[in-house]
Amino acid sequence: MLNFEWKNADVSIIGQEHGLEIKKKFSLYKQKVSGIISDIYANKSAEGRWLAWLNLGYREEEVKQIKEFAFGVKGKFDNLLVLGIGGSSLGGICVTEALLKPYWNILDKEQREGFPRVFFVDNVDPDQINGLLDTLDLKKTLVNVITKSGTTAETMSAFMIIQEKLEKELGGSSKDNIVATTDPNKGILREIVNDKGYTSFIVPDDVGGRFSIFSAVGLLPFALLGINIDEMLQGVRTMDKELQNTDIDKNIAAQNALIHYLMERQGKNLSVMMPYSSRLRFVSDWYVQLWAESLGKEIDLEGKVVNIGPTPIKALGATDQHSQIQLYNEGPNDKLITFVRVGKFDTELRIPNVLQGTGVGYLGGKTVNELIDAEADATKVAITDYKKPNVTITIPQVNEYYLGQLLYMLEVQTAIAGALYNIDPFNQPGVEQGKNYTYALMGRKGYEQTAEELKQKLCKEGGEILHSSTQDDVTYIK
Ligand code: PA5
Repeated sequence: MLNFEWKNADVSIIGQEHGLEIKKKFSLYKQKVSGIISDIYANKSAEGRWLAWLNLGYREEEVKQIKEFAFGVKGKFDNLLVLGIGGSSLGGICVTEALLKPYWNILDKEQREGFPRVFFVDNVDPDQINGLLDTLDLKKTLVNVITKSGTTAETMSAFMIIQEKLEKELGGSSKDNIVATTDPNKGILREIVNDKGYTSFIVPDDVGGRFSIFSAVGLLPFALLGINIDEMLQGVRTMDKELQNTDIDKNIAAQNALIHYLMERQGKNLSVMMPYSSRLRFVSDWYVQLWAESLGKEIDLEGKVVNIGPTPIKALGATDQHSQIQLYNEGPNDKLITFVRVGKFDTELRIPNVLQGTGVGYLGGKTVNELIDAEADATKVAITDYKKPNVTITIPQVNEYYLGQLLYMLEVQTAIAGALYNIDPFNQPGVEQGKNYTYALMGRKGYEQTAEELKQKLCKEGGEILHSSTQDDVTYIK
C-alpha cells in the first residue's frame, strides 16, 4: 500500500505558527469528513453528480473490449499518436512516462516488444504539429483521438489535419488507422465516428475529463502500449476499498484533503507536488490540472461568490533543488509541499570508485539510488528546519499497481477537498468561457454575437487586427 506521512505538517515539528494540531483537527472534523465520504460513495452512480469515475475500476466488459482491440492491432503499427488536451491527455502522458521503459521512442521494436512508439499532440502549435507530421509515417501510425465533448477546437483541429492526410495517403482504408474515444451519444466526434465507421470507445456518462484516466481515455492507449491495465485497476480497487472507510484516522485521502484545506485556510495557498523520480514527473502535471480545475471556483454550492482555490505547483526532485528550493526554504511561508517518494527503484546504479583523492571521491562506491534518497531526506529535513510544512506519500515501487493506487487516491482527495470547500469540484465554468471565446474568434456558427462583443473588447484593450481575411476569420495582436 501507499504510505502517507503528515508529521512534518504538525505543530509538534513545525511549531504553532505554521503547523496544525493534526490529531486534534482529525477529531474535530471526524463527523464532517465521515459525512462527506458517505455522501460521495452513496452517490457514485447518481445522475448529475459526476461521481461515476468511482466506478471505473469495475468495468470488466469495457476492459475486455479494450484488451481485445489492443491485441488485434498489436504489431500492425509502429506509432501511436494520441490527440487530446487537458483531462483527455494529461493522464496518458503521466502514466506512459512513468510505466514505459525510459526513452521508449528511441528503443527499437524488439526492445519495445512489438509495441508502438507513442506521441501526444496536446497543443495547437503549428511548428510542433508540422514537425511531427514531417517525421511520422502516418501509414504506420494508429491515431487515437480523445475528446469527451467531441468539439474541443485544439483536438479537433489536429484531428482534421491528420484525418485529411491519412485519407489522401490511404483512401478508404484510412479508417483502420483511427480509433476515437468520446461521449457515447453526443458531440461532433461521435457523429464523425458514426459517419465514417471508425472504431470507438466511450467516456462514460457523468465522468469528467480530469477524472477519466481509468476509462478508455487512459486504458486504451495504455493497453496499446503493453501497460498492464489489469494490474493498474487492481491497484485502483484496492485503494477504493481503503478509501471507503469513513473514519479519517484510517483514510489517507481524507487526511491529506483536510490538511491541505486547513493549511490553505491559514494562508498556505500554494500546493507543491514534488516527486523524487523522473518517471513520476508528469504525475505533477496531472495533479496540477486535477487540483486547479476542480478546486479553483468563483461560487460555492449556495451560489455565494467565494473566489477560492489553492494554487498547485509542479516540481521535481532532485532537479528543482537547483531551481525552486531556495524560494521554498527562505521565501514566504505560503506553501504545503507534498513529496512523493519511491520505496524501491527498479534498477540500481553504482557510481564507480574513480576520482579518489578529489572533492567528489566520497561518491565513489555509493549508488545513485542512495544519492536520490539522501537528497530527498536532506531536502525534507532542511525544509522542515525552515518551518515549511510538508507531507510525504511513498509509493513502494513505480508500477501499474501502485500508480493506480496513487492516482486514484489523489482523485478521491480532490473530491473530499471540494466538499470541504463547499464547491462543485466537477465543473469548470472558467474553462468553458475561454473555449467559447475561441469558438467565437474562429467563426463557429452560433457564436456570432460573442464574436462581435469580443472584437469590441479586444479593440478597447488596445488590440489591433492582425489579419482579417473573411468576416469570420479574425486574429488580433496586442
Ligand atoms: O477536465 C476537464 O473536463 C477538461 O480539462 C477537459 O478534459 C478538456 O477541456 C478537454 O475536453 P474534451 O475531452 O471535451 O476535449
